[in-house]
Amino acid sequence: MQRILTLASGFSVDYTNMFGAERLQESDFAEYQQQLLAAHQAVQELTVTGNSTYGQQVLFTQMPEVKFGKINTPASIAKLQAYAQNMQNRVQAVVSLGVGGSYLGGRVIFESLVDEYWNGLSARERFGRPKLYFAGNSLSATALQSLLRELLRQAQAYVLKYKKRYTLTLLVTSKSGTTLECITGFMNLYTTFADYADVLNLEVAVLTQTDAQAPNPLEELAQVWGWEVFRVPTGIGGRFCVFTDPGLLIGAILGLDINSFLQGACDMALACQNADIWANPAWLNAALKYLAAQKNGKFIEVFMPYSPNLKALGEWYVQLLAESLGKKRADGTAYSRTPVVAIGSTDMHAQTQEHQEGLANKLVQFIQITHESIEVRVPEVFMQQEFFARYAGLSLNNLNKQALQANAQALASANRPSLTINLPVLDMYYLGNLMYFYMLSIAYEAELAGVNAFDQPGVEVYKQYLRAHGG
Ligand code: PA5
Repeated sequence: MQRILTLASGFSVDYTNMFGAERLQESDFAEYQQQLLAAHQAVQELTVTGNSTYGQQVLFTQMPEVKFGKINTPASIAKLQAYAQNMQNRVQAVVSLGVGGSYLGGRVIFESLVDEYWNGLSARERFGRPKLYFAGNSLSATALQSLLRELLRQAQAYVLKYKKRYTLTLLVTSKSGTTLECITGFMNLYTTFADYADVLNLEVAVLTQTDAQAPNPLEELAQVWGWEVFRVPTGIGGRFCVFTDPGLLIGAILGLDINSFLQGACDMALACQNADIWANPAWLNAALKYLAAQKNGKFIEVFMPYSPNLKALGEWYVQLLAESLGKKRADGTAYSRTPVVAIGSTDMHAQTQEHQEGLANKLVQFIQITHESIEVRVPEVFMQQEFFARYAGLSLNNLNKQALQANAQALASANRPSLTINLPVLDMYYLGNLMYFYMLSIAYEAELAGVNAFDQPGVEVYKQYLRAHGG
């Protein structure tokens, strides 16, 4: 029996293979009915009031709507658009500095929706939009040095060719304004580039959060130097902030349709108000994964899009899941599901052996893009040899779909669960649909599991050790 939840937009969740022998049964949903209903009520309450079960103000559910008095207002969107517009044909490159949630969302937009070799395209091919680099996401001196050298080389070549200075913008994103990787990366890039003022015109903008309880050194610095300031709104954690300035600004700079991205989130929010679990994708997704853990011991989730463009989405999801759900409950017991990223079909040649025959402690979450924007067929070459001739004319997109289907069938044949999210196309609308779906799913699962999705006390422990070492 096929089990598929399809929204009017065409976004669908095929969860057929979550049910069956050694997997979920209808009766599991009946057994957990009260808990499932309570989770739905808590998430709806959070959506309407912003009050979390743990007494925090959690405002991520306000992000999709652009409205006066909300997180995104017509004025805040206009400010982003104007800033991005002013970069077009003027700024040659942007370095986005940040780590964790502050940076991953923007990276997802970049990797999913622009040409993989964007930074190698000409300015004309980029429609005058800047090149985009990411930094401040590690403490690697090698990575920082390579980026410095590359940008200085570009600036020197630009001056020789155009007889004017190369303009570079540093976007420094840190909610707290104190994060080690981001701040030390910024200090290094800023100092070095300032020494090359003859070839390079340096601009800085910061994206940060004002906290009445704690000083924000980055915000103070921005005030002293008069840098442009964008906001990570109060009440929104880094891993939930892609629909606010840090994510939207990256989209606007690249010339992508940020209104469509927000509309995708809005439509998903609406679908997830449905009081019928079988028609509410986030509630259903959370329930399937929570019950697979409780009933069948599936404590690992393999996140496997069949598109290399969605690898950054996998990294974003890893943070969202791990940092939101991997923690202690009030009674001291722990909950978690370990996220693992795999890319289809590439990792069928690396991980699938283990998914198929290793410990039966995981579920595989596939993502399929139904209509790819680019089609490539295998050419008619080497036709005299039967082995090559049989591939001639085949569509790579169809082969990719067949690979996914074969993977899901093979897992099901061993009673191993998987589910497939189908996106009609990969664009800003469906990326908004998908990312908001995952955020809401996490909010639902946290309610089911009895953990607070919106804090990260475990992260403080290593930070204390690091500070003791002077970091
Ligand atoms: O999700 C989160 O809140 C974290 O991952 C933060 O984004 C990350 O630690 C970076 O923090 P900040 O934005 O304060 O630099």
